[in-house]
Amino acid sequence: MLIRASLLSAPTLQELHFEADGGLVVDGMGTIADAGAFDAVSARHPGLAVEDLRPFWILPGLVDLHAHLPQYEAVAADGLELLPWLERHIYPAEERFSDGAHASATARKYLNDALALGTTTTVLYATIHAEATDAIFREAEACGIRAIIGKTMMDRHAPEALLEDTETSLKESEALCRAWHGKDGGRLHYAFTPRFAPSCSRELMIGAGRLARKYDAFVQTHLAENLQELEWVRGLFPEADCYTDVYRRFGLLGSRTLLGHGIHLLPSERKLIREHGCSLVHCPSSNAFLQSGIMPLRRWLEEGLTIGLGTDVGAGPSLSMFREMGGACTASKLKRAAQHLQSARLREVGGLTEDQKARLSEALDLDPLPALDATGAFHLATRGGARALGFGDRLGALEAGFDADFLVVDVRLSDPFGQVSADPAHVLSRLIYRSDPRLVQSAYVRGRRCFHRA
Ligand code: GUN
Ligand code: ZN
Repeated sequence: MLIRASLLSAPTLQELHFEADGGLVVDGMGTIADAGAFDAVSARHPGLAVEDLRPFWILPGLVDLHAHLPQYEAVAADGLELLPWLERHIYPAEERFSDGAHASATARKYLNDALALGTTTTVLYATIHAEATDAIFREAEACGIRAIIGKTMMDRHAPEALLEDTETSLKESEALCRAWHGKDGGRLHYAFTPRFAPSCSRELMIGAGRLARKYDAFVQTHLAENLQELEWVRGLFPEADCYTDVYRRFGLLGSRTLLGHGIHLLPSERKLIREHGCSLVHCPSSNAFLQSGIMPLRRWLEEGLTIGLGTDVGAGPSLSMFREMGGACTASKLKRAAQHLQSARLREVGGLTEDQKARLSEALDLDPLPALDATGAFHLATRGGARALGFGDRLGALEAGFDADFLVVDVRLSDPFGQVSADPAHVLSRLIYRSDPRLVQSAYVRGRRCFHRA
């Protein structure tokens, strides 16, 4: 198949690749065989039938690195911060996943909605229920989305109905990993999922880390999201130097570890994360919704941390990664605006030495870099997210040799006059800041059309 359309991708945080009249060839294995200017591509593949999709644009599929599928029904329940919100709104929704049929129905709806909004790779928390986790995998297998999924592990500090025995949790997780990790040529993967330090015993975390290494599977958990949570972790694990050190001690930090949030991190923790090759998942909509804080994203990217984006549904109010990109830009701009104010105040304070000012500036977490822009956010939601998964050489680009995970998008829906602007950076900015829920016309994973707008 040779598709004719405009092609847009972001190979780095600063660069856009744009081909106004582009051609994309997908082979029978679901790999991009060729991409570039239409004339050149069609000349290299003279016999191929052309599917002319103009004026639609083709974008790489979006990568959502952190979401809780069972929380879909509890999405956007406002008014509380993390810990009371979990108790009041989230745990009751997760308890309902003891019903396998309910889990299947929710999964079918969630995954189709995610594809319709452009997510072709999703990394999901299930609940403690093995049957529900298996049901989510089966729905993902059927609908064609690329997915990394894990049964949430909790053996303390949760409601009775969501507590499991340590051994059972490890056994059931291992069985699910054996059933699903690497399935369908690597489209589906398993993530060992100790929810977060407060809901896991030391034995459970040690066991999860050991199993992840045994099967070369992913690990996902939450880190340093909320200040009350930080206090709790300090009290529960007095032996650890810091929150990240808890996970290090129990063997959970590795190159396939995804750490959700990580807003409140000391320089020493960021060093640990870098040294172990873990990825951070930035969830700006969720962090605003639960009043958790704002990650100094630009500075941490500059420090060399690997970071991708996640919706964190149900704390994130939408499944849309277009909206999440907008959220990331807005959060970054607010961080920068707050920093202007703090810098101005700091200049006004008399009697401080330069050294004291420098230390204060560091303690205030000031981010001196320009805010994240649409190109940067688009990169994080595509190639950057793929890199966070260790798939940077296969996913997130419209280049020969990459998996054919891509979207067909009607960019006119974000334009105030329903037109196609000549400036690709401006079009992208509108896709992100004026995202329309009908933007995505079709979504492809490995060349298979998984969603099509009728
Ligand atoms: N920390 C532990 N569990 C959760 C969860 O379900 N959502 C969020 N946002 N943070 C958590
Ligand atoms: Zn989460």
